[in-house]
Amino acid sequence: MCGIVAYIGKKEAFPIVVKGLKRLEYRGYDSAGVALLHGDQLNVYKKAGKVSVMEEFALGQDVAGHAGIGHTRWATHGEPSDVNAHPHTSMDGKIALIHNGIIENYDVLKRELQNQGYIFKSETDTEVIVHLVDYISKKEHVWFGEALRLALSQVHGAYAIVAISKEYPNRLVAARKSSPLVVGIGAEGDFYLASDATPIVEYTKKVVYLDDEEIAVIDLEEGLKLYNIADQERTPFFQQLEMELEALEKGGYEHFMLKEIHEQPRSIHDCFRGRLNAEEAWVNLGGLRDYEQKMITANRLIIVACGTSWHAGLVGEYLIEDLARINVEVEYASEFRYRNPILNENDVVIAISQSGETADTLAALELAKSKGATILGICNVVGSSISRLTDGGSYTHAGPEIGVASTKAFTAQVTVLTLMALSLAHKKGTISETHFRTLLAELEAIPEKVKQVLETDALIEQIAAEYKDASNALYLGRGSSFPVALEGALKLKEISYIHAEGYPAAEMKHGPIALIDENMPIFVIATQGNSYEKVVSNIQEVKARKGKVIAVVTEGDIQVREMADHVIEIPETNEFLVPLLATIPFQLLSYHIAVMRGCNVDQPRNLAKSVTVE
Ligand code: G6P
Repeated sequence: MCGIVAYIGKKEAFPIVVKGLKRLEYRGYDSAGVALLHGDQLNVYKKAGKVSVMEEFALGQDVAGHAGIGHTRWATHGEPSDVNAHPHTSMDGKIALIHNGIIENYDVLKRELQNQGYIFKSETDTEVIVHLVDYISKKEHVWFGEALRLALSQVHGAYAIVAISKEYPNRLVAARKSSPLVVGIGAEGDFYLASDATPIVEYTKKVVYLDDEEIAVIDLEEGLKLYNIADQERTPFFQQLEMELEALEKGGYEHFMLKEIHEQPRSIHDCFRGRLNAEEAWVNLGGLRDYEQKMITANRLIIVACGTSWHAGLVGEYLIEDLARINVEVEYASEFRYRNPILNENDVVIAISQSGETADTLAALELAKSKGATILGICNVVGSSISRLTDGGSYTHAGPEIGVASTKAFTAQVTVLTLMALSLAHKKGTISETHFRTLLAELEAIPEKVKQVLETDALIEQIAAEYKDASNALYLGRGSSFPVALEGALKLKEISYIHAEGYPAAEMKHGPIALIDENMPIFVIATQGNSYEKVVSNIQEVKARKGKVIAVVTEGDIQVREMADHVIEIPETNEFLVPLLATIPFQLLSYHIAVMRGCNVDQPRNLAKSVTVE
């Protein structure tokens, strides 16, 4: 959480930093600030609210300067306010610093610094770092970069930090532990720093991802140098970004979320491209090939994830257990890591994460690794912390997802899990050749079918208009459609602030049925398959209590149509692949309801896309 951008070079820093902050706003958007070095001035502008509020405030003042740092915040310590916004400055106004992460021992450090006469302006944990850097630099007579390195050995917690000082106008110093930081190397001897590559890609594709406990010293004359906390120099590993700038723009859509929903035919296709061939009957996930035997013989596969990624994991559980007959457990990363789980080298732990940075998921993997388990990842962001920590894994190739509510990343995760289940089943011999070929062909046909589902948009918008004022909603599904119900409910509450719950359809009788009245919309996945008749009975139970039923059904369905208030048809597909189609109407529905309710679709209140705090 929190977005960091910095620039040093020959260009004006302010427009680059502000544009970068806007690209990173999905990481947090409650306050923003910049610090700019202009001659012997260090100008700091910060404001509660969106980046644009800060931008407006700063324009009209001195925004010149060739070195600048900027921050967009998701509050942890201290409410969103002008004072708590970053950058924070030393008392003499010489050093400015931005931070993403949490300093766990800030209270102790703060008291020690207060005893030394330091006066704190904000309630943040970050201010401790800037005063500590200042204190060490004065006490040890060292420059601020060295002081930062020494300060970090006293700091416990997670950080991505960038600092500048007006005493060293040609330098910028950065450090990372558990929170991401990327350095972009410009063609004109200039440098860009950011929490992820999105603010950098329009200027350069040559980047270095900082490793944990690594410090970057950027000097306009000497270039980029990396050190570890013990001050040993490290060799930078330069990488080429594959991201394209267009992927970061709205491309004519009103919101990123809508664009990302509509990108799904392509993102699902990109996800399986080169990885399956129905005609030749093969599937191949290159990054997992070396671990498949291990997965087949493992005690169990444990999927760890948070939020939407956890829902994808639940779909994966159904697929892998049913097709490959391997024991799978799906865990919330935050619970798993604190439960002292029984793990050993015969377990395989698979993290699913769009960002590849979620703090709890990362920590769960580290725990699994320490116990000797094989750790694998399914990530979207290339080069992210989880993808670098894991032994092997698969990228989802969905392209940058900017809307805070996850859409195309979810369907891409489910696609990878489907490929994984098919590959394991085929290798293990638990699937017949005919069934294998049928499923591969069905998967290849899914992007076209997603297109057809997207064509029901106008109908979904009408349904949205009817239920936009509901205060509660229930989502029901069985089997692998149960996680789709959970995901549908999450989408609605995330962006429209309507309370919604997802339930296994049969469990409704054990509680939620008490909530049903004529005002309650109940969204049901009632597609053809094993549990169709059971779901039909559940719909009857709802109707008997006058609930409003909106059912997602298979094209041509007659039975549910007679009972439900509305039906949304999806094309026929194999039952295993229904989640990939059934989830789309719920994404569109939440989107339209949120727009009709005047909510900020791409940046819902209190949420952030990349949750780098625990
Ligand atoms: C946040 C986001 C969700 C996401 C979850 C897990 O809550 O708002 O969209 O599903 O984090 O993130 P990850 O990047 O690990 O998939």
